[in-house]
Amino acid sequence: MTDGAGRDARERIASRLVGRERELELVLAAVGSGRDLVLEGPPGTSKTTMLQAVTAEWGIPLLFVEGNADLTPAKLVGHHNPARVLREDYSAENFVAGPLAEAMRRGGFLYIEELNRAPEDTLNTLLTAMADRRIEVPRVGAIEALPTFRVVASMNPYDNVGTTRLSTSVSDRLNRIVVGYQDAAAEEAIVALRTGLIGATADRVIPDAVAVTRATRQHPAVRQGSSVRGAIDTALVAHELLVLRAQDSASEGYAETVYDAMTVALSGRIHLDEAAETTPELVLREIWEDRFVLEPARAEPG
Ligand SMILES: Nc1ncnc2c1ncn2[C@@H]1O[C@H](COP(=O)(O)OP(=O)(O)OP(=O)(O)O)[C@@H](O)[C@H]1O
Ligand SMILES: [Mg+2]
Repeated sequence: MTDGAGRDARERIASRLVGRERELELVLAAVGSGRDLVLEGPPGTSKTTMLQAVTAEWGIPLLFVEGNADLTPAKLVGHHNPARVLREDYSAENFVAGPLAEAMRRGGFLYIEELNRAPEDTLNTLLTAMADRRIEVPRVGAIEALPTFRVVASMNPYDNVGTTRLSTSVSDRLNRIVVGYQDAAAEEAIVALRTGLIGATADRVIPDAVAVTRATRQHPAVRQGSSVRGAIDTALVAHELLVLRAQDSASEGYAETVYDAMTVALSGRIHLDEAAETTPELVLREIWEDRFVLEPARAEPG
């Protein structure tokens, strides 16, 4: 790839993403130089969105697989169709390619979410594919990877339930890019982009939805707050409720309507500390009071 083409691609990809210039540049540098990588960050921090933008730009498939204890090597690589094996015996034709075989054959990215949850024998299969760019499948033969084949893993740093760290033999073979939450202005732009809401009401609903969602990440009783997904839904539900109640952002009941939207969009998305003696609804009420009662000046329009 020439330098100019690389820059053009980066600009085209950036037009589908809000912000993330630095992370995108790092991802492009890693995959552009033929490397495999792990993206580490909490849920909802653009990991999938960035990979979709890169693979769309390259015109290659993005294959998803969830890393968990059930991800056997056979599920990752593929298996022989049992009914056809009974009828016709084993053959390359009745091999059903799994996501790894398909990504290799089609030159796509294999995106493994929560790689650290995959069993060890599955990881070993993956390491072989990464190192050799080919795998041997019994009764099928060698599957060679096209040059654009990459393994991209994701990991959530906050989720300690049932997860283990990557073994050094795996982590030593991967590059690592860390993503965090974007700032409020970027999150407002994401909510505007994803909801399509515009106008005077949206101008108030979107900043409110983003502010209360971000506050869930700071609250002392919360182990993990909501991503921008919660802000997108808070804005959409609030907007719909305002329509149902014939209100707008200047109505007396506006703030209470936002609270109702928060309970719908955020109460299931916040995970409390085990020791916390409170409920998601109480936490949301505190956050709402901070935004709309204690500091109403900040929430006033204009
Ligand atoms: N920078 C961004 N630009 C545009 N949209 C974004 C951006 N970041 C996140 N989004 C939107 O937020 C939502 C979540 O983003 P995404 O799916 O990329 O997160 P993720 O990091 O893959 O999360 P998970 O770890 O849960 O899979 C999507 O609807 C996506 O469109
Ligand atoms: Mg994702």
